[in-house]
Order: sequence, then C-alpha cells, then structure tokens
Amino acid sequence: MTRDPLAGPSAPRRVAVVGGGIIGLSIAAELSRRGADVTVYDPAPGGTDGAWHVAAGMLAPGGESAFEYPHLTRLLEVGYELWPEFVAALGDVGYDRTGTLSPALTADDVAEAAREWKHQKLKPLTGSQVRDLEPAISPRVRAGAYAAAEHQADPRKIVAALRAALADRLVAEHVSDLSRVDADVIVVAAGCGTAALTGLPIRPVKGQVLRLRGEPGLLRHVIDGTADGRHVYLVPRADGEIVVGATQEERADRMPTAGGVHDLLRAALDLVPGLAEHELTEVTVGHRPGTPDNAPILGFLDDDRRVVVAAGHFRNGVLLAPITARLIADLVLTGSADPILDAFAPGRFR
Ligand code: GLY
Repeated sequence: MTRDPLAGPSAPRRVAVVGGGIIGLSIAAELSRRGADVTVYDPAPGGTDGAWHVAAGMLAPGGESAFEYPHLTRLLEVGYELWPEFVAALGDVGYDRTGTLSPALTADDVAEAAREWKHQKLKPLTGSQVRDLEPAISPRVRAGAYAAAEHQADPRKIVAALRAALADRLVAEHVSDLSRVDADVIVVAAGCGTAALTGLPIRPVKGQVLRLRGEPGLLRHVIDGTADGRHVYLVPRADGEIVVGATQEERADRMPTAGGVHDLLRAALDLVPGLAEHELTEVTVGHRPGTPDNAPILGFLDDDRRVVVAAGHFRNGVLLAPITARLIADLVLTGSADPILDAFAPGRFR
C-alpha cells in the first residue's frame, strides 16, 4: 500500500470532504495529518444521523465477511490490521481486544452456525466450554465458538475524538450540487446521501439497535449468537452499557417496531437470561449504506478525477474507516490507486 506523503507541488492542497460521519471524518483526519488543507461539509457536524451513531462497533473481519465476495474479506482483513495505530491517535475510544463468543442455542442454530464457524476456521466449543468462558450464557446453549481476533471500539467515542481533532475544519452546510464546491478535489463520503450526489446505487438498509444498562461485568466478551433462528449481537462496554443489535431490513423508515425490538430482546434474553434486569435505555434506528454487491464504493467517480467516492460501507463502516482513510488519502494526494481498490471502483456500477 502506498504511504507516500504529499506527492509534490502538483498534489491537491484544497480538499473538500462531503459527509461528517465516521468515514468522512477519518479521511479528513488522515488528509490533514498529511498536510492537505481539508474542509468537511455536513448539514449537522456533530449530529446523530449517521449509521455510526447506532453502530455497535464490532471489529469483526470474519463474522461480517461475505462468503461470495473474497475481495471484501481481504479489505476487511487488511483494514483490521490498522486499528491499533488508528486508535493510538484518538485516545480512549473503548478499543477492547477481548474477543467474540458465538453461542448457538438449539440444535438447528448449531447446524446453521457450524457453516459460519467452518468458514472462519473456528473450533466448535461445547455448551459448558462456552459457559466456562462466559458464565452469564444460558445453560440451554448447546454449542458455540470463540473468535479471539474479533474486537470492538465505541463509534460514538471515535466520532467525538475525530470531531474534536477537526473542530476548525467543519462547516455546517448541506451540499446538494458538487459543481458548486470550491476545492481541488472533492471526496464524497456521505453514506446513503452519496446516491443523490453521484447517481451511484447506494440504498438505506434499516437496522434497529437497543442499548441496555446494568452493573458492569455481566459479559466479558462480545456475543454474536443465534437463538431459535434469531441472530443477535451483544457488545458490552466497560461502563455497563450493552449494545444489542441489529435488525436488517430493506426499508428506509426510521420507525422502531414492536416486532424488531421483540426479536432482539428475545434472542438476547434467551442467550443471556441475566439481561432481564437491565434497564432498556435506548431504541434507535439507523441505515446502513448498502450497494448492489454490498461492498463499498471507493475511487474516482469520473475520468476528470475531481470527485472521489468513499461510501457504501454497508455493515462494515466502522471496521473499514481506517483503511478507507489511508487508501483514499493516497488516492487524493498521489492520484494513483492502490491495486486493492480495483474491486471497489465506482465504475463497476456505471
Ligand atoms: N455491523 C453490524 C451491523 O451492521 O449490524
């Protein structure tokens, strides 16, 4: 991967980043660190509209990788390696490397999960081995697996740290027409809003997410499990918050539903009965920016090379933020694309 500093006097100095979510801010921070004059445009810098605000922050290169798209698996793996360096520059953002446990409740859940464990090359554990690692797991859980390399960080803390670092670079403005943006290069990192700005096929994929709160320490690991066919993840923070996610619905509304909340809580309580006494503190709805192949769109929009797209990260916006920042900063500052970007070029949809 290219890590050249500014390529010389012809390198673009004035870069506009459209979108102040975790992707846009990460790119802006990397460009700024490497000497570019960056401005971030967002209708509400510091607002909570972005997918990052509901995201749990699982850093799961295996658990979120697609069977059918090996290029994405590779990007997730390379991106995962950048996390220690990324968080070192941000301070305490809840980066936790304890690992992820995947319990499966019933025999049917085990049969389904076993395919995933095999794909991830994880060794199956018996129910009692799962409970040795995580005593709060229900005695009804039949089996599980442990992924030591699946970590977590808190997206709300990450975005707060990035915003603080870029405070004098943020402009509260809604960009609706890229031709009116005054910059040498424009990076469009507006999540679902990228579709209207570029014509690229990015669609909102609704996710309902809950937050519970109780005494810290009930869970030691991130839990990513299945109970009676319902999939759920539980991401415990050090302060006692547990993020419970997420539905995945091909819808664009912002309405939490009784069915969505029920399914998440039912699976959560089936796997970890002790959560019943936790306070339900938040019910939120976010939209993952999905693409036709559910892989991100990264690269120059057109031959004139004035507009760069960095959007469509779907379920992996948090994990892919550091690698996106690195690769897009390289592209903006040197004009040449790392070969890993070939599979993600906007041209595949044009
Ligand atoms: N990456 C987790 C989710 O999209 O729900």
